[in-house]
Amino acid sequence: MIRLMQDFEKLGVFYLGKSYDLAKKKRLEDLLLYDSRDLVTHAVCVGMTGSGKTGLCLSLIEEAAIDGVPAILIDPKGDLCDLLLTFPDLSPAEFRPWINEDDAARKGMSPDDFAKQQAELWAKGLAEWGQDGDRIRKLKDAAEFAIYTPGSSAGLPVSIMKSFAAPPREARDDEEALRERVASTATGLLTLAGVDADPLKSREHILVSTILATAWKKGEDLDLAALISRIQTPPTDRIGVVDLESFFPAKERFALAMSLNNLLAAPGFASWLEGEPLEVGSLLRTAAGKPRIAIFSIAHLSDAERMFFVTLLLNQTLAWMRAQSGTTSLRALLYMDEIAGYFPPVATPPAKAPLLTLLKQGRAFGLGVVLATQNPVDLDYKGLANTGTWFLGRLQTERDKARVLEGLEGAAAGASQKFDRGKMEQALAGLGSRVFLLNNVHEDAPVVFETRWAMSYLRGPLTRAQIKTLTDPVRGSATAETPAKKAAASVAAAGSGGARPVLPPGVSQLFVPARGSAGDLVAPGQAGDLVYHPAILADAEVFFRDAKSGVTSTEKVSRVVPLSGTLDWSGGEAPDFAPEDLAPEPEDGESAGFASLGTAVSARSADAWGKDFATWLYRENALELFKSPSAGAVSKPGESEADFRARLQQEAREGRDAEADRLRQKYAAKLASLQERLRRAEQAVGREKQESMQVGVQTAISVGATVLGALFGRKTISSTTIGRATTAARGAGRTMKQVGDVQRAQESAEAVRQQIQALEAELAEELAARSAATDPLNEKLERVSVRPKKTDITVKPVRLIWRPYRGNAPAWV
Ligand SMILES: Nc1ncnc2c1ncn2[C@@H]1O[C@H](COP(=O)(O)OP(=O)(O)OP(=O)(O)O)[C@@H](O)[C@H]1O
Ligand SMILES: [Mg+2]
Repeated sequence: MIRLMQDFEKLGVFYLGKSYDLAKKKRLEDLLLYDSRDLVTHAVCVGMTGSGKTGLCLSLIEEAAIDGVPAILIDPKGDLCDLLLTFPDLSPAEFRPWINEDDAARKGMSPDDFAKQQAELWAKGLAEWGQDGDRIRKLKDAAEFAIYTPGSSAGLPVSIMKSFAAPPREARDDEEALRERVASTATGLLTLAGVDADPLKSREHILVSTILATAWKKGEDLDLAALISRIQTPPTDRIGVVDLESFFPAKERFALAMSLNNLLAAPGFASWLEGEPLEVGSLLRTAAGKPRIAIFSIAHLSDAERMFFVTLLLNQTLAWMRAQSGTTSLRALLYMDEIAGYFPPVATPPAKAPLLTLLKQGRAFGLGVVLATQNPVDLDYKGLANTGTWFLGRLQTERDKARVLEGLEGAAAGASQKFDRGKMEQALAGLGSRVFLLNNVHEDAPVVFETRWAMSYLRGPLTRAQIKTLTDPVRGSATAETPAKKAAASVAAAGSGGARPVLPPGVSQLFVPARGSAGDLVAPGQAGDLVYHPAILADAEVFFRDAKSGVTSTEKVSRVVPLSGTLDWSGGEAPDFAPEDLAPEPEDGESAGFASLGTAVSARSADAWGKDFATWLYRENALELFKSPSAGAVSKPGESEADFRARLQQEAREGRDAEADRLRQKYAAKLASLQERLRRAEQAVGREKQESMQVGVQTAISVGATVLGALFGRKTISSTTIGRATTAARGAGRTMKQVGDVQRAQESAEAVRQQIQALEAELAEELAARSAATDPLNEKLERVSVRPKKTDITVKPVRLIWRPYRGNAPAWV
């Protein structure tokens, strides 16, 4: 079985369980293999508590991980973190730290004995389902598993700071997309601040949305502090056609600013601003491109905080998704356990709009959404209409059943499938724990199956301390110094500044606006006047050409460096303000202070700075590309190693899926005729046996669990057809016949079986030949470094700019 499994693991099918005979209440032998591509039309999993939803969905995530598909998991209860409890040796020692000691006590067992018993339980459970420690090892190697805890330092911290940054261009150009993102960000934020705001009517919502939309349309990043200051001094004096002051007077705006500021100032809030930025691309993959299963544990948050965070995360996912290329293969998963409250049919909590959009548009980008809930009432109808796969577990009430049936009927009508309500109702009523009815619009008929044993140790929700223990070994580099911190440190050292230096004629200077830019200011009410610090802003266009790889690219390079005698271009940063916002005069006019220039500046300085910049660009600025020796492909300018590997992997996956289709076609006819012959042969065996023995001996027929079965899914190979044939045969005549008849029949059945085996061997060989190709995730990439020619560097006029700070440091340091 394991050998077979490794064969189908190359095919993009997920092993979720085995067929189940509801009438006999018995597990059958054929594997339930789910085509991963079907997940791009999403899945819902509904069932009462204890029905096995989380177990099923975690198995699905395990399968995805083995196939190299990364995932974002939203975990309101804490039990998705069990994915980190994978013990390849299946030894009591591995289990011991993670057992639930209360469970042990309840059973009157010592913790050690209980650990031993759990280890045995898992080893036995896995073996029953054809799995073992090697498969667990494979799972662990295939992906990185990480627990993020927004607003807490138990797991990996994650910073929401960037979540108010302008969305990427792809997401900005789409008016509707931008409006949606603005609206749900505003609602999420106001919910968090305890402002109960109606998105259509409340002026709080309208104001915050206007501020966000105005900034984002220009591609300008905001952060909470900037947002707060803009609530006090909005970038516009009209809202629609109404004068700002009469729409929302300054005094009342101040109250709103204060309630947001209180959030910022709350002792625990700093932890929301630390750690990895909430950027889905880099959450889904490590820097080296390895897929990550990123679990967001939100059990510790209040309801308002959860809604706020989930909304942000969904919006970020949406923005990431829109920047991907189209695909027909599965690229990534988003799984939310316990969707109750986030996706209701009538109400519109802020998370609902982005989720609905993800369901509607995910397919084109290969993003599969999986939602689980105890209660069908928690799911929006429109969302369900976009869902291709339903995993239906045991349901609690008749009303729940009726609701699910209604939904199924609707889905069947949409997919022009037959729908037998009576039969479906009967099936639903018969489900037990870990037994699910799978209704997949991509298959001919629903199937009942029992979920396979999960590789992860399902010990239930983890405590904060346990999450910390799991996370500590991987913590560390996460607290790298941010540009804002660096800037703050250098400014703090510079002191509060004096009068504005007088510059010689011919030197032009510009001022960075005193609000908004992420690296700079400003918390309202913070003491201290503005102090401006001098810097150089340089822009250039550099044309790169590499004859060998055929790559050509024009790159815009912008650098801001503090003004000094020798400019440190390598230590410079990309500007964190929009160039068109630079003003000819400082804000706060008279009261602002100025740091000294620190070096002599003359009318000719700008030219010298420009030459200096060009030299640096020539010497230090190469276009660094990656090259895959096996595929021959070269990364795009600006594409990170992770993105490049992800792209190669996705292309390989598309190739594999196309190959699976090709094999399917190639083998379909041969297989169908062999199947038919086998069926007849088995039938003959059954008949002969019965006739010879006059008893209804059940003939063991098992053809499901084969490589071919894996490839063809349930459509072609149907053990039920064969089963029915045997039963029919059993009822036939009972005349005693010669034993030789039985033997002959058995021999011919055996011959057909051997032919099927030969066909399998042929297929296995083809698969092996394909998978010999290099793995884009582990292949060593070559570096291609393209240097510009001097004549291909065009430096624009360099400018002296002043950057404002208030007090000694930005507020969040
Ligand atoms: N695939 C599985 N492998 C091993 N054990 C399982 C599996 N599925 C479920 N179980 C066992 O059954 C218990 C209940 O299952 P599970 O937590 O998946 O139910 P649920 O439907 O998610 O319930 P709830 O709605 O309360 O979250 C698990 O704690 C675990 O002990
Ligand atoms: Mg659950």
